[in-house]
Amino acid sequence: MEYQLNNQSISYLPEGKKISGSNTILLHHSIDLTANVPWHDAGYAIEQLYHKNQFTDFFNETKNLLIDLWRTAGLVMPGDFALDQYHTLIGNQRQHLSALEQTKLIFTNKFPLGIHTLENRISEICGIQVVAKNPFDHQSVFHFRVIRPNSNDNNPLHRDTWLEEYAGCINLYIPIAGSNAHSSLSLIPGSHLWPENKVERTEHGAQINEIKFNVPAVSKIKGKYELVRPDPKENEVLVFSPYLIHGGAVNLNKNQTRISIELRLWKKH
Ligand SMILES: [Fe+2]
Repeated sequence: MEYQLNNQSISYLPEGKKISGSNTILLHHSIDLTANVPWHDAGYAIEQLYHKNQFTDFFNETKNLLIDLWRTAGLVMPGDFALDQYHTLIGNQRQHLSALEQTKLIFTNKFPLGIHTLENRISEICGIQVVAKNPFDHQSVFHFRVIRPNSNDNNPLHRDTWLEEYAGCINLYIPIAGSNAHSSLSLIPGSHLWPENKVERTEHGAQINEIKFNVPAVSKIKGKYELVRPDPKENEVLVFSPYLIHGGAVNLNKNQTRISIELRLWKKH
């Protein structure tokens, strides 16, 4: 798979069997949490996250949580550590993987400012009551995505909904550190309305350069498309359909790790 991002050509080669689907549009067979929003056709929007004062508290709580998790993983850093310098703490891949173990699948009772504050804000944005609880496995979790500069830390292009457990949700990307026009999440506007036969993908979770991913990877796209980085700023949230093709977001910064919060919400029943 080869694609253009920040006017650069980027490629990856997923291993294993590739498949292409039918003319089905997956979104048309599921709950569409973008049905009531003006950005339905694009499939994503950047919205303000919190009131200004609230955001300061949110950010401080987030920073303290992340530093605690990294310390639990055995990393040593000063109290005033700049989060985007994470890569300078890492000596080898094993250290990075044990840090990632701590910063994924975090229970939402630890969510900065409380998960209800976030659920209320996203319900307001989507015009429908949503909760951060997966109806498939009843998990209520969030993750920090940590993508070092000059690394293969990012996942390949994919739809979350190729995994059954993400059907019908809405996705959030909240920038925390080092997230900018050269590192933030990339996506293909409108691709949530593409039929499955417009892309070829790996049959199962992708394997690329010895790294195994949960999600299948896009290996080919038929026709024209544009991959963009919406680039939400401080106190903004990128809200997007899990049916959108996204990922492939290599961090092209020279000396900044990109850190974001990833969280999904489903319709409240
Ligand atoms: Fe994803």
